[in-house]
Amino acid sequence: MYYGADYNPEQWPEETWPDDVRRMQEAGVNLVSLAIFSWAKIQPAEGEFEWGWLDRILGLLHDGGIQVNLATATASPPPWATQKYPEMLPADQNGAVYGPGSRQHYAPTSPAYRRLAADLVAALAARYATHPAVVMWHVNNEYGCHLNYDYSDNARDAFQHWLRRKYGTIEGLNAAWGTAFWSQIYTSFDQILPPRKAPYSTNPGGALDYKRFTSDALLELYVMERDTIRAAGATQPITTNFMGAFPPLDYWKWAQEVDVIADDCYPDPNDPESFRTAAFARDLMRSLKPGTPWLLMEQSTGALNWRPTNAPKAPGQMAALSAQAVGHGADAVMFFQWRQSRRGSEKFHSAMLPQSGTGTRIWREVTHLGSTLAEIPTLAPDSGARVALVFDWESWWALSHTDYPVPLDYSRLIQRWYAALHSQHVSIDIVKPTSDLTGYKLVVAPQLYLLTNEGAENLSTYTTDGGHLFVSAFTDVVDEDDAFRDGGYLVGLRDLLGISIDEFGALVPPSDAGDFSSAGATSSAVGGHGPGQAHSTVQGPFGEVRGEYFAEELRPHGAEVIGSFTDGRLAGHPALTRNSHGTGVATYLATIPDDTGMVAAMAWALREAGVLPEVHGLSPWIETARRADVLTLINHGTEKQTVSVRGTDILTGEEVSQVKLGAFDWRMIRTEPA
Ligand code: GLA
Repeated sequence: MYYGADYNPEQWPEETWPDDVRRMQEAGVNLVSLAIFSWAKIQPAEGEFEWGWLDRILGLLHDGGIQVNLATATASPPPWATQKYPEMLPADQNGAVYGPGSRQHYAPTSPAYRRLAADLVAALAARYATHPAVVMWHVNNEYGCHLNYDYSDNARDAFQHWLRRKYGTIEGLNAAWGTAFWSQIYTSFDQILPPRKAPYSTNPGGALDYKRFTSDALLELYVMERDTIRAAGATQPITTNFMGAFPPLDYWKWAQEVDVIADDCYPDPNDPESFRTAAFARDLMRSLKPGTPWLLMEQSTGALNWRPTNAPKAPGQMAALSAQAVGHGADAVMFFQWRQSRRGSEKFHSAMLPQSGTGTRIWREVTHLGSTLAEIPTLAPDSGARVALVFDWESWWALSHTDYPVPLDYSRLIQRWYAALHSQHVSIDIVKPTSDLTGYKLVVAPQLYLLTNEGAENLSTYTTDGGHLFVSAFTDVVDEDDAFRDGGYLVGLRDLLGISIDEFGALVPPSDAGDFSSAGATSSAVGGHGPGQAHSTVQGPFGEVRGEYFAEELRPHGAEVIGSFTDGRLAGHPALTRNSHGTGVATYLATIPDDTGMVAAMAWALREAGVLPEVHGLSPWIETARRADVLTLINHGTEKQTVSVRGTDILTGEEVSQVKLGAFDWRMIRTEPA
């Protein structure tokens, strides 16, 4: 188990360094991520390198028994670089150039940036490839984090190149994007611009390709650095830090290029439900590389600096969230950062070693957690999940443009479906539409707007072979070009589901739908044809639930109707269908339930599929997470809870039949799955 943090010794006088190493030993730290923002310190001018300080700190850490995750330092180009090559700066959607003076102020496709980054990485890797302290490489930092999309001329050129490679001919692109619409037909690739600010909606196919291109362009940068490190003879694992469900990067694709998955995760202590968002991120990370442990590369010991309000963590909460990561498959608990900065934008950000010193609660919790983690034996990463939830960047991207029946926040919706499952104490794997689904008893595929033929086939095969598939509204609407297929909507899954969709029946979105709120909507205005229908009630085998966003008009072709709308425009029409297919069952729900409705629907789906909770009757504030035969139990609530579970506490060796958990208490119990 790795324990440690980002370490930025360049912010401190060298006399501090030996004290850092001593304190790290005291805290149980065994790994630090070094040099993440050190470009300016390593390379004061083009062609000049200053290795002395890095040699010395690497030596000190090594002598102190602290291993190093050495960063490539390419995330923040120094002032000399942007002064000499201003063309490397990125631009916003209006074409305005970003200034330097922060971080990530580079156009990922800039040839000047790429050359400078490659030179730096080549020199760094040549020097430290075989350094005994270096056990891992940390490429760049949080790719795309601040600069989600770049609209510069560099991006324009690279996008055109990417499109040429994808389509071969301009006719191919015109057909895919449907440019006959609004006189958008291109006669050559060099007419194509990034989707900059335009008077009205831009081409959806073009916007989708721009998102694909951006993810690929950043991945290309990662691969360039990775291959440069390898070419220098380095044999350590190479990674970069992901950010959970991060919109611009398709981590399914990225996961194939990193040796080990690493994630940065900062749940908001002001949000009592943020442990579920964190749980989703952790399950996603484990699922990106099934069967291998992942690393929690960054979290905070307490307050941040970048939220409108930066609440501290409550006593015990930092350890509880660390145990959560381990419970969901992490073999590292790391923080941003080791020693709290005294200057700069992040000086209010908590650290392992706080500005207020070692007499603090944070320091006590840090050292205690270090000694606890050291006691945890090796754990297998397998979640034992019998439930899979489909999460797909392509659908997310396709749903992130304009002009839908009703706007949807895809990621938020998927995380609500996740929360509905997670609160019922089952293990959940996250999958993409083409993942291997063998072994799952239940696959939940909500709002899977863009579905490829391969994805549709995979879901069909899964069901035919005996699986339970649960699909809900606005799924299988378009193909990979964001175009309707021949024959209506829901074409790919029509036979499987035994239904077709005639109309989406948009409802005025709920007021808590993020940016998509419903000022002025009334809830049941249809009788009097009032201002707009905002929900529709569904009566089904899970009782009565409130449906939002859509009340789709569906037509069964062989599926059994097992639930109906009871009010609104479609009162009396089917809302829930079930179709036997091969030896499996495919269910379709023609709306998106509210939170309570999702819990009811998922409880029913779990029962239908025969998936049992880890422990019956637990409070939703108790989280369960499984790694093979080890069950982690965490109390994220404030009330004391008693959990009946038979097994062995892996930390104390004690045989238990019941555990008591106060606020943020957690235990790891060796016990076979239910
Ligand atoms: C991210 C970055 C770090 C730091 C932290 C602050 O995770 O990678 O460099 O800025 O945020 O929370």
